[in-house]
Amino acid sequence: MKAIVSTKYGSPDVLQLKEVAKPTPKDDPHSPGSWGKCEVLVKVYAAGVNAADWHWLRGDPLVGRFMYGLLKPRNTILGADIAGRVEAVGKDVKAFQPGDEVFGDISAGGFGGFAEYVCTRADALALKPANITFEQAAAVPMAAVTALQGLRTTGPIRPGQKVLVNGASGGVGTFAVQIAKALGAEVTAVCSTKNMEMARSIGADHVIDYTQEDFTQNGQQYDLILAANGYQPISAYKRALSPAGRYVMTGGSTAQMFQAMLLGPWLSRNGTQKMGNGGAGPNHQDLAFVRDLLEAGKVVPVIDRCYPLSHVPDAIRYLEEGHARGKVVITIAGQ
Ligand SMILES: NC(=O)c1ccc[n+]([C@@H]2O[C@H](COP(=O)([O-])OP(=O)(O)OC[C@H]3O[C@@H](n4cnc5c(N)ncnc54)[C@H](OP(=O)(O)O)[C@@H]3O)[C@@H](O)[C@H]2O)c1
Repeated sequence: MKAIVSTKYGSPDVLQLKEVAKPTPKDDPHSPGSWGKCEVLVKVYAAGVNAADWHWLRGDPLVGRFMYGLLKPRNTILGADIAGRVEAVGKDVKAFQPGDEVFGDISAGGFGGFAEYVCTRADALALKPANITFEQAAAVPMAAVTALQGLRTTGPIRPGQKVLVNGASGGVGTFAVQIAKALGAEVTAVCSTKNMEMARSIGADHVIDYTQEDFTQNGQQYDLILAANGYQPISAYKRALSPAGRYVMTGGSTAQMFQAMLLGPWLSRNGTQKMGNGGAGPNHQDLAFVRDLLEAGKVVPVIDRCYPLSHVPDAIRYLEEGHARGKVVITIAGQ
């Protein structure tokens, strides 16, 4: 089968389109890299691209190499989000059978989505909603589950609550706006001028252009601020919170991440405001929740660009520029 392979850390230039052995489900749980009888072999029709792919590709940050592989990448085929059709299942797999259309975030099972086939663990997958394409399904898992987990980190959203999403036009942000709306919130999206119309089209009640206005300075306060991207000092986010408001960071600049992680708990120690980070990783129940929203038409993936498998390096370069509108997806031939 064809796959995009990286055997050393580096820029997208190190990625190569190669012919590699097609994986087969193994029943032996002791076989290296095997999920034993819980394995599912999927023919991949589309794969989503995430920031996680270029972090693993570059071995960045360096401390991450304890997880990515100290000297060279442990996972030679990247690609966390997949959508495709089940080809074969292990003996203990009850949820799927050959022919099922599935999607999921397979990062916890060792990545491998930038390939024509992948063997992964069954619990990473859910049945693909019939009303969306494979490309749309591949755009969903990691970004939408991150958005959902971020929105619910500090408890359920109550209808009418004011939610602000910073970085609303990216992969995580476009799902966060739609999920918050589906949960009944009044949503403010923060994005740049060129994305304001798109933000309105996915349901944002209010849109703030970050090139024209600093939302932390306009006197408005929010019950929940989800920082999906961008950067504001944590003290500025605090100013924009209502007295019992919550601030949850799932991405953005390195400074934003460290401030949420290190200063968030300290700023939350007194009073009723809470600040910190969210996004716990792949989770079957959360994927099922998102699947229901997709099926109900309450969430529709926003896809910026699709690239063929051979162009994965270009797709990652584009995502790394930091201005994708929604998701970037790889279409793999043979549907
Ligand atoms: N915690 C987790 O589990 C998890 C999971 C997935 C992703 N992440 C992290 O979340 C972050 C966002 O991921 P993503 O997939 O949404 O990224 P993305 O799709 O690459 O984000 C691009 C979007 O961000 C917007 N943006 C850039 N600078 C901004 C700013 N200063 N203010 C507001 N918006 C800005 C861009 O809009 P303009 O072009 O208009 O500037 C663009 O639409 C990344 O840091 C990623 O590592 C975390």
